[in-house]
Amino acid sequence: MRTTALVLTVGLSLALLAGCGASDEYTLISPPSTPDSGAALDQSVADAMLQAGIGGVTRPQSDAPALVTLGEALFFDKILSGNMNISCATCHHPATFTGDSLPVSLGEGGFGLGPNRSQGAGALIPRNAPHIFNAGVTGVDSMFWDSRVERNPTTGELDTPEAGLNGPVPLLVEHTENLTSALAAQAMFPVTSHEEMRGQPGSNPIADAPDNETVWALLMERLVGTANGTVGGIAEYRTLFQAAYPTVADFDDLNFGHAARALAAFERTTWTALDGPFDRYLGGDMGAMSAQAKRGAVLYCGKAGCARCHGGPLLTDFDHHALAVPQVGPGKGTPSEDLGLSRETGNGADDYKFRTPQLRNVALTGPWMHAGAFATLEGAVRHHLDPLASLANYDASQLPLLFAATHDTDVTRNAARAAALSPLLQVPVGLTDAEFADLMAFLHALTDPASVNLLDEIPNSVPSGLPVID
Ligand code: HEC
Ligand code: HEC
Repeated sequence: MRTTALVLTVGLSLALLAGCGASDEYTLISPPSTPDSGAALDQSVADAMLQAGIGGVTRPQSDAPALVTLGEALFFDKILSGNMNISCATCHHPATFTGDSLPVSLGEGGFGLGPNRSQGAGALIPRNAPHIFNAGVTGVDSMFWDSRVERNPTTGELDTPEAGLNGPVPLLVEHTENLTSALAAQAMFPVTSHEEMRGQPGSNPIADAPDNETVWALLMERLVGTANGTVGGIAEYRTLFQAAYPTVADFDDLNFGHAARALAAFERTTWTALDGPFDRYLGGDMGAMSAQAKRGAVLYCGKAGCARCHGGPLLTDFDHHALAVPQVGPGKGTPSEDLGLSRETGNGADDYKFRTPQLRNVALTGPWMHAGAFATLEGAVRHHLDPLASLANYDASQLPLLFAATHDTDVTRNAARAAALSPLLQVPVGLTDAEFADLMAFLHALTDPASVNLLDEIPNSVPSGLPVID
């Protein structure tokens, strides 16, 4: 009983702990010895969680069903891509746990889904398509591996790659009024990327649009038409938008922000995954996690040092750290190179920093890291224990050939990656095999059983009539 009470108090202490959960002030707790099982073990877990600021996560309020229905249609419909050949779902598919199971994504012009996707005329995208589990939960205010889309939850102000959406008085205010979460703001952008969805210049009018605002306007024309829906467009989308936004009187008053908000509503409603053994345990079901996973939880917060960055209720500090991760894929900005956060901040001290990922469902969402360098969860976790040795000994043959061939073996760049390693990971962590197995058991206890098979979420058809199953 006492343990349950302790775990529950975590919620109250969160505001206090959130600020320091990940910082240098965090001290590793090293209990003299972790009990193997029983109430004493539960007490150790409770103590460890309290110190790491880890507690239950509140389920977000549900979105209006009509908004979710519209969002689902848009998410699976290739109509949102310039050449009508790729949808959001291509890279964030239920069959591959809301990612694409590839180290880095293959853009528009490719064929097929998941591990069967072939490159065709598509580009290798610089980064790994992250899963979308819990991306709409309160507290998630930044998007992408470098947080280049951010929303201030207090003021609602956005900071994104599109200046017109940013600041206290955005130029495109009729769009931003709909961008009520970072997740909604994010949904504005895949359609603006030539490689992801827009298409190469010359291939379609959306690809040739002069700016993002025009891209968004042309997409809305495709969906609902012009002249208040009397010219062009798709009747079923008019019905869906009308149901989702009953107070918008004229179809011409809809903008892509309305689509983005619906996409976010779908993503949040469908992929909030907060019912794994660990969540149930936090909720007071002391039998929900095995003793092994409980010992792993203590290691996670203590000896293994994971909670210094993956602390807090969502198991992330939402901060950025350099992990000396092997680089695969085409690179971003410079071939074979991805400087991560510093590309956004212009600050060399941010070189190679990437945002700490949330970890619920992490056992499902490989390959892992910002460019999917690790094909196994074990590899991704072992990397943290001794990043420099892992970088030096990295074996790209764990990846399919297309991606393995892009592994950056340049000595100078790898030395720079090593030199940038976070001070928090400088000292290798030695875990016994048994301890490592305990830690892995804890990570597996983060899997929501409802996420293990998402195939029911694939619609049979979409309003455009374009194929859903590639
Ligand atoms: C070609 C593959 C591709 C397509 C199509 C695509 N995405 Fe993504 N998505 C990615 C990649 C890659 C990233 C990570 C990019 C980065 O961090 O720089 C990403 C990031 C995201 C994120 C951020 C998740 C997080 O935790 O930061 C969300 C949400 C998302 N995509 C939703 C969408 C939606 C909605 C659409 C359709 C409008 C879409 N994606 C279309 C590949 C794709
Ligand atoms: C210094 C901060 C820090 C510490 C400590 C840390 N991580 Fe991470 N972790 C990160 C960052 C940042 C990334 C993404 C790095 C990248 O892709 O370049 C990451 C990535 C991961 C991933 C891959 C997730 C994905 O979706 O691709 C896993 C799994 C993971 N960490 C687990 C752990 C475990 C287990 C521990 C403890 C042994 C740990 N981390 C310790 C910061 C940290």
